[in-house]
Amino acid sequence: MKQLQYSKTVKDLNGPKGLPVFGNIFELDKSKIHLLYEKWADEFGSLYNLNFFGRKLTVCTDTELNAYILKHRPTKFRRFKKMAEVIEEVGVNGVFAAEGESWKKQRKVTQKALDNKNVRSFFPGIVRVADRLSNHWSKVEGVGNYEIDKDFQKATVDVTTNLAFGYDMNTVENDVDKTQEHIQKIFPKMNSRINNPIPVWRYIKTASDKEFEESMEYIRKVLGEFITNAQRKISEDIDILEHPTNFLEAMIASQDNDNPFTWDEIFGNLYTMLLAGEDTTSNSLSWITYFLAANQDQQQKVQAEIDAILKGQKLDNFDQLEAFTYTASVIKESMRIKPVTPQLYMQALEDVVIGDVFFPKGSFVITQLSHAPRSDKYFADASTFAPERWLENKEEGGCPYHKTHNEDAMKTFGGGARTCPGKFLSEVELKVFIIRLFQEFDVELNVAPEEVKEVFAFTMSPGNLKVKLKHRSIDKEKMMQSESIEQ
Ligand code: HEM
Repeated sequence: MKQLQYSKTVKDLNGPKGLPVFGNIFELDKSKIHLLYEKWADEFGSLYNLNFFGRKLTVCTDTELNAYILKHRPTKFRRFKKMAEVIEEVGVNGVFAAEGESWKKQRKVTQKALDNKNVRSFFPGIVRVADRLSNHWSKVEGVGNYEIDKDFQKATVDVTTNLAFGYDMNTVENDVDKTQEHIQKIFPKMNSRINNPIPVWRYIKTASDKEFEESMEYIRKVLGEFITNAQRKISEDIDILEHPTNFLEAMIASQDNDNPFTWDEIFGNLYTMLLAGEDTTSNSLSWITYFLAANQDQQQKVQAEIDAILKGQKLDNFDQLEAFTYTASVIKESMRIKPVTPQLYMQALEDVVIGDVFFPKGSFVITQLSHAPRSDKYFADASTFAPERWLENKEEGGCPYHKTHNEDAMKTFGGGARTCPGKFLSEVELKVFIIRLFQEFDVELNVAPEEVKEVFAFTMSPGNLKVKLKHRSIDKEKMMQSESIEQ
């Protein structure tokens, strides 16, 4: 076996000192944990140790080392065993938590369900959800301190349930929306359990644990009904086994193979899709809205682009999406400054060397992904929201944001074989919903920009985002003007 080469071991790394015995455990505010990891990276460098009751946990913010870790899955690294256990404990045995052969099998069907061809054919379904949002927004127009993030959460649930289960849940138009309410309780609790060194909930159940379990049970029941209905549909029309029309049917169709999915795997993957596809996309939508509401000039530029391309018509052609280059740069820039999945949790499956540091098998490493894209080392004037940095530089003398621009430092969707399979779907959703919102409304921020805070609960959302929508009066003259700006 090849001898590993290194100059130091994980024990030699620095890090915040913390308290005797307890280590750093009391310093971790779970809702701001990503900011703390970033702050410590500035102090202790891109590879540093934390200590939980004597157990070491390494945080890595180095973009190349993180790429190495993400790339070497499922061979050298896996997701944190404890995290997978917390997720599986509540019955979500899906592709996100799976490892090894089980992961490969689940990944294949997930990737297929979310491939470009399927997403493209599902485009009219996304536009239908945008239509509903637009109707809803017309009703709340003029309302101050409006919490638009809730609408985005509903819209993404509707898209995912449609694509994954072939079911039109329509939470956007349902006034009492229980499913949505229950989903919202899941991530904060999982985050709290993953970051809790002692699994107290296994011995003592608090009121919030009970509430969480009720929510899990509710969603379990809803998803169970989807599975039963799909099984009934397939028994009435066995052709579906040959040509499944959604993810759920594709999983059931695997029953004919040598290695069919179990009920638990089907259930776990439906759950995974629902969870993975909702908060991530809706939080990104909220952050994009935040930036455009806080930067009216850029909002007008987005609107000018929309008017120039759509000329007052509704977006109804998938191929048109390509043309929205400025809007795409706004989306990308929002995701750079506000990456909604700021860290991933990894564990070494064998003795490994990361950079020149030796980590024994079983070591824990947090691939911290929000520090690098917000660092001047990788992006010039990194804290400035500048969509231009993603556009081709046509200006004489060069765009100042192009002086330092390292796209590899952005790992919004992870990396390697486990890169997010929902990337393309979410990119289409982001464009469709943002285009619809700003085509029809002017959006203003009702709180000072600095009052909108990053809140981490497995994903990172804009806490306290409050806006007001105002119908745009798009007249012909304005549209002609925007057309000339475009040229
Ligand atoms: C802006 C939206 C999204 C972001 C930022 C995002 C981000 C991520 C990240 C960082 C990972 C972990 C990747 C890794 O371990 O390397 C991931 C995994 C995953 N995402 Fe997404 N995601 C988004 C939308 C979606 C959507 C819409 C779906 C499906 C409906 C989805 C389904 C999944 C699944 C199933 C996994 C697990 C993949 C695996 O472990 O093999 N995601 N996502």
